[in-house]
Amino acid sequence: MNIGRFLAERTRLMRASEIRELLKWITENVISFGGGMPDPSSFPAKEIMEVTREILSTKADKALQYGTTNGVAELREELVRFMGKVGIKVEGPEDVLITVGSQEALDIIGRVFINPGDYIITESPTYLAALQAFRIYGPRIIGIPMDEEGMRVDVLEDTLRKLSNEGRVKFIYVIPTGQNPTGITMSMERRRALLDIASKYDVLIVEDDPYGYIYFGDGEPPSRLKAMDSEGRVIYLSTFSKIAAPGLRLGWVAASREVIRWFELAKQSIDLHTSTLNQYIAAELLRRGIIERNIPRIKEIYRTKRDLMLQALSQYMPEGVSWTKPSAGMFIWLTVPENIDTGEMLEIAIKKYGVAYVPGKSFYPNEEKRNNMRLNFTYPTPQEIFEGIRRLALAIRDYVQRPR
Ligand SMILES: Cc1ncc(COP(=O)(O)O)c(C=O)c1O
Repeated sequence: MNIGRFLAERTRLMRASEIRELLKWITENVISFGGGMPDPSSFPAKEIMEVTREILSTKADKALQYGTTNGVAELREELVRFMGKVGIKVEGPEDVLITVGSQEALDIIGRVFINPGDYIITESPTYLAALQAFRIYGPRIIGIPMDEEGMRVDVLEDTLRKLSNEGRVKFIYVIPTGQNPTGITMSMERRRALLDIASKYDVLIVEDDPYGYIYFGDGEPPSRLKAMDSEGRVIYLSTFSKIAAPGLRLGWVAASREVIRWFELAKQSIDLHTSTLNQYIAAELLRRGIIERNIPRIKEIYRTKRDLMLQALSQYMPEGVSWTKPSAGMFIWLTVPENIDTGEMLEIAIKKYGVAYVPGKSFYPNEEKRNNMRLNFTYPTPQEIFEGIRRLALAIRDYVQRPR
């Protein structure tokens, strides 16, 4: 039977993620830098076990029951305190919505704000799964190039000026700290400029911040955009995936009360609410300080693995290859000479050399560049990092010298 005839228009806008496609080729002999998974040794498993046991023995009636769409009040209150410590001031738990990871929040943002044909702006490259979530709603996506300080705000302003007669720009989506895929952290100056420009052209900002709490550079990360927002313009997303465990599927949104009300309505028809039991677990992890005590450990693991990958890259990579040096996030962004198509090279890398990565192309809204790749350094072991980078360098040399 041909199912295609029954598909909705928007279903045709969905594309299989290249990361998922890639998983099919990966056997146990392949070292993969392709995923985006945390180091499992960073999960507070024992503490989650203790907390879960206690919740189920003292408040199973609530923890196993349906809950409200906006989320468990205790968790939202804990999050108000948690965000307060990094300077994010929200009026109260009513300004917070609990989601099934930040990924659900990205879909809700698309549902609530995007009409087909609306403009939205992202960094270029940007988080692949955000592009996928937004694309379903049919926007025109404009990617703004980045440099080592983050989004080029001069290009952003030019773009908004040009678009101002053309149609509605709904929001600017940014990952200011430890950006996925580049690992770049936006400078303070750029953050201020971004807020000014968004205000001047009256556009919303979506600040996706999964990595700010595990910043492993020197000192503290630059202030969150949300902490500098005096107009209620910033919709802030974060997640328990990187500070506790992604399997909990817990994220949150902090935004003005009006935005939260619309998001709540959208979420109601998606899934009624986020897992009540998991929300009680997270509230307790925060209340007991388990998350805050675990954060320095996560930072240390990530810093060590990043350093290892940087060292291996310096040791093995041929001339003409460059890479970012992230102080947050989980990824290094590698740039190879322009005559290399990393999408095409992947087959050689996996099949002949046993190493995988994510080709850079699909992180660009217009898929215009082919000579980058994203390398994850948090999941592989130290031995795999060294050996995998050695193999990757061989694959690059092989691809460049192939007969054509
Ligand atoms: C920038 C960014 N946003 C959102 C997510 C989604 O995270 P989750 O749905 O697990 O909260 C990720 C996960 O890697 C990410 O890197």
